[in-house]
Amino acid sequence: MKIEKAVIPVAGLGTRLLPATKSQPKEMLPVGRKPAVQYVVEEIINSNISQILFVTGRKKTSIENHFDPDPDLIKKLKESGKFSLLKDLEYEKDVSSFYYIRQSVQAGLADAIRLAKNFVGKEPFIVALGDSMIRSSDNNNLLKRMIDAHLKTKSACTIAVEEIPKNDVYKYGIVEVKDKTTGNVSEVKDLIEKPEIGKAKSNLAVAARYVFDPVIFDLIDRTIPDDGGELQITDSIRLMIKRDYKVHCVKLADGEKRYDIGNFESYFKAFIDFALLDDKYGYLLRQYLIQKMHKGELQHD
Ligand code: G1P
Repeated sequence: MKIEKAVIPVAGLGTRLLPATKSQPKEMLPVGRKPAVQYVVEEIINSNISQILFVTGRKKTSIENHFDPDPDLIKKLKESGKFSLLKDLEYEKDVSSFYYIRQSVQAGLADAIRLAKNFVGKEPFIVALGDSMIRSSDNNNLLKRMIDAHLKTKSACTIAVEEIPKNDVYKYGIVEVKDKTTGNVSEVKDLIEKPEIGKAKSNLAVAARYVFDPVIFDLIDRTIPDDGGELQITDSIRLMIKRDYKVHCVKLADGEKRYDIGNFESYFKAFIDFALLDDKYGYLLRQYLIQKMHKGELQHD
């Protein structure tokens, strides 16, 4: 069996990033040279998936424009001999099909995923959150490892997880694993969305990537909204486990890193790390930071 479809939820309002997101989607904020969501699409393409559905919302049309080839721009760049810029636009051609559907009411991640039901059909599929980037080495793509694990373990759901500081558990879905672990793959015993510090059973956080069998849609339909009236996908996965479906998690490998742009602190950190890796400007930026450090300009006041 092959997994050929991915869903990228990008409907969130981005209120934690106002005013930067007043009139543009947070997923289009630049991280280094590219908008954040382009890294997510490239990660999916690297795992050999060619059909991508965006679950969008109001004010998200610039995402559609970004992935829609622009013949006028291409013509102008060709005429003026700007071939390296043309190369930078090649990402538009890499996916055979982009699809879009709108979530008109903010009713939670599980509700956004539910909108993918007709697109998905009968095969397993990927969900990759559009505001989170995973930096893997080229030949060790996390999604590929998750797909392998999903098919091998015959799971109904496979989740990416990462170890986080114990004081941050209230920001994430937290996973409790069974004892049986093969390499970085473990069976999930239970999971809970954003527990209080002290009540979490581990420091393994859900890390923005999922593989699901279509049975998830039945479980989303049975999920009870949280106190804020939103349907949490963590609660749908929990129902899966209660009904004896197998759920596994795959831990991020050493050197692999998750970035999210959900708030200014994490966005700034992501920007700095990706800019430092830039082929042309990374070196100059490093020199700049070293100079600032020597002048004492990076010290606290
Ligand atoms: C979502 C999920 C949460 C997960 C997090 C990071 O939360 O609900 O389980 O740990 O993404 O992948 P959000 O950041 O949208 O509040």
